[in-house]
Order: sequence, then C-alpha cells, then structure tokens
Amino acid sequence: MHEIVLQIPHNKCILWKISTLFISPFTTCVLLWCYLEHIFLMTQELRLDPLAGYHAAELLQRFMVKHLTDLLTTSTPQGAAAVLPTSYEDAIFDKLKEKFPLIIFSCVQIASKVYLHSNIIDNNTAVHFLHSVGHRVSKQTLLETELMILKGLEFRINAPNPLTYVEILLEVLGHNEPSIPVEELCDLCRHVLRFVSLQKAAIYDALLKTTTQCVSPSREQRERFVTVTEDYMLLGVGVITVAAFIVLDELSHITGISRRSIGDFVHVTLMHIVNTNSPLTST
Ligand SMILES: *[C@@H]1O[C@H](CO)[C@@H](O)[C@H](O)[C@H]1NC(C)=O
Repeated sequence: MHEIVLQIPHNKCILWKISTLFISPFTTCVLLWCYLEHIFLMTQELRLDPLAGYHAAELLQRFMVKHLTDLLTTSTPQGAAAVLPTSYEDAIFDKLKEKFPLIIFSCVQIASKVYLHSNIIDNNTAVHFLHSVGHRVSKQTLLETELMILKGLEFRINAPNPLTYVEILLEVLGHNEPSIPVEELCDLCRHVLRFVSLQKAAIYDALLKTTTQCVSPSREQRERFVTVTEDYMLLGVGVITVAAFIVLDELSHITGISRRSIGDFVHVTLMHIVNTNSPLTST
C-alpha cells in the first residue's frame, strides 16, 4: 500500500492511497477528488477566485492521468506492462511522492493565471507560500514543474469546470426568467457545489446505488458510471435545484408551514401554469 501524506495549512492531513489508482478510471477520479479540500484551502489562503480552485482540480486530474499513464508505459520494461514488479512500482511512487505537493501547487498557480480578474500567483508569492507550509522549493524548480504540467496537458488549459457550468446555467436562467433572484441563488449554489464537490465520492456512490438499484454495483457498472460523474451539466442542474430546495426548507422552517403543504401548493400551481401554457396538455 502506497500512501502520500501531505501536510497542509490548518494541520490537516490527507492520505492518498495511490496503489488503488491502477484499479479503474473510477477509482482514479475518486482519489483525485480527495485533494479538492487541499486545493480549496490553498485557493482561500492565496485569496484566489473560487473558479481558480475548480479549474486547478480539473488540471490536476487531467495531468495526473496523463502523467501516470506515461510513467507506466514509457519506462516499463518490455512485456512487463501487465504485471508490474513491486520494486518498480515502488520506484515510481517514490518519485511521485516527492513531486506531488508541488504538482498540486503548480496546478493552482496555472489556474490563477487563467482568470484575469483573479490574483495571479507570481514566483515570489509561490516560493513564500510553499515555504510557509514546509516545502523549500527554488523558483527554477517551480518553473520546471509548471512547464512539465503545461507540456503534459499539451498546453490545453481551458478545461471547463463545474462552477462555470453552474454560473452559465444561472445566467441563462436569469435571462429567460428575469424574476428569479439569480444573484442570491448564486451564493447559495456556490456553497452547495462546494459541499457536493467535497463529498463527491459519497454522493456519487449513493447516486450509483440508487440508479442501479444495487447495493454493491459491479466493477463494470462503476466504470460505466464514470460518464455520469463527468457530466457537469447534470452536476450544475443538480446543484441549482438543491439550492432551490434549501430555500423551500428554509421557508418551511421560518413559517412553520410543512414542506408537504408547500409542496402541494407548488404542485397544484405548477399544474395550472403548465396547463394554461401548453394547449397539448389534457386534464
Ligand atoms: C520570477 O518572476 C520574475 C518576474 O515575473 C521573472 O522575471 C523571473 O524570470 C522569474 N524567475 C523564474 C526562475 O521563474
């Protein structure tokens, strides 16, 4: 079992059980999600726009998949690809373990440069920040890591991220229905998205079990489910709807009117709206 232990601000420690990386694409995603909290804390500490955090997570995910694939295919002794000798695996992990904190940081730094309205992390701030969390790194090393990531990503750094989806959907919603208080909803949505992102493994696992109606889905079902976990449109729609439900819950709490009574009212009214708007609907 290989573990990477990372010391991050606020004395939080995150473990990454990296050996499971080789099990399936699904576990790869799950494991990289574990680093989101680390990235969010870093973004806060460096006063970056939350968009930069989500963006960094995308870059990290894409880069690591590519990097690990490269490491395992290019330097594996001929014919040994299927069964990796433990010592060889160990060597790869030792190499990666050293570089990993810096790789995460570099992804955040690259992301900080994508958003013009966000603070850009220059190399002084970067070295200073890394030093403050216990990593002594030269500007040269920092530059080399950044280049390695950029090359790994083939300089394609404009990956869409979940928060962009939420914001675009809200914008469309506000445009189509100007009476919806999109700005206030947006704040709530950011909190919901953050929660969903940090609890992504648990939430998507429950979703997988619900959709397959199976307590222990097969490996094949899990692998097919990757497309759902990567569907940011679904995530965006889900997050906005959860925010709307929270408003419902809060209203019920304030007024003492049960969710059921509110629900009945909403249901009946919506039926009427749908019926008056659509001539095709009967009943
Ligand atoms: C550090 O940043 C300065 C100013 O942006 C730049 O001129 C210099 O080349 C950078 N040094 C390294 C090693 O990246």
